[in-house]
Amino acid sequence: MEFKRKDLLGLQELKKEEIELILETAKPMKDLFTRTVKKAPALRGKTVVNLFYEPSTRTRISFELAAKRLSADTINVSATASSVVKGESLIDTAKTIESLGADVVIMRHPFSGAPHLMSKHISSSVINAGDGTHEHPTQGLLDLFTMKEKKGKIKGLKVGIVGDILHSRVARSNIWGLNKLGASVHVIAPATLIPKDIESMGVTVHYRIEEIIEELDVVNILRIQKERQKELLFPSLGEYSAVFGVNTEKLLHSKKDLLVMHPGPMNRGVEISSTVADSPLSVINEQVTNGVAIRMAVLYLLSGGENENIA
Ligand code: CP
Repeated sequence: MEFKRKDLLGLQELKKEEIELILETAKPMKDLFTRTVKKAPALRGKTVVNLFYEPSTRTRISFELAAKRLSADTINVSATASSVVKGESLIDTAKTIESLGADVVIMRHPFSGAPHLMSKHISSSVINAGDGTHEHPTQGLLDLFTMKEKKGKIKGLKVGIVGDILHSRVARSNIWGLNKLGASVHVIAPATLIPKDIESMGVTVHYRIEEIIEELDVVNILRIQKERQKELLFPSLGEYSAVFGVNTEKLLHSKKDLLVMHPGPMNRGVEISSTVADSPLSVINEQVTNGVAIRMAVLYLLSGGENENIA
């Protein structure tokens, strides 16, 4: 199967087969990590620009590493150190980057829909690296890849997503992807952190983790996004942690092979205890490693690569 898209803007618009193709393509990419020379020539001569209007550690670094491992030239633009601070518009910035010869623009932006706007104005491929509260497709894909690698399948898994669903682009990308691949998705949070229409996305809502923990195969724990809260949505971080924070006590009746995930960055002691984050159930560091393989797969497929022809 060929990947015929110009951009990767979200998992909502991808077909199940396209998601599966990305996950399959990431496997040989991950195999490269164990070679002495961890590089393939697939993107030689291509230019990849990281354009980040919000802070990032994992996503920015892993996109840069992914592009370098495929032999692309990479450029990092931070909005705070660019002409954006002088008032340059998003579209003018996009046109400038296109004129400099970028083949792929990877964009993170605080406003939902900003990468979609950019993609309409330039011929370069655009990858959404997180737009506001909308989607974070490569995080969703790396989460799916990690679940499939650890559990051998996605179909039939019961996946709990716990925490700040309201502000979470990671939750939305996970929900689209998991539903398309046949998992059953449960969101768990205080009512104030659950969007009103969330059930229309095909999830079951719970207001306590204790209601569902025994049945879950995977628990994906989300950061409390204080920076996006316009009003106080729970009495205090201490109270949130006591009721919704995932600690060993909350996992007392979980399956023995429960997978504990977190997209990072973690607020240890708030949404997750250090004991859980560092426990043998946790695959948080493996998620980061898998993020490089997934981003290599996405860059490769958007650049016209075929699954059989990676190295
Ligand atoms: N998971 C994630 O998007 O992390 P960063 O904000 O560090 O990129």
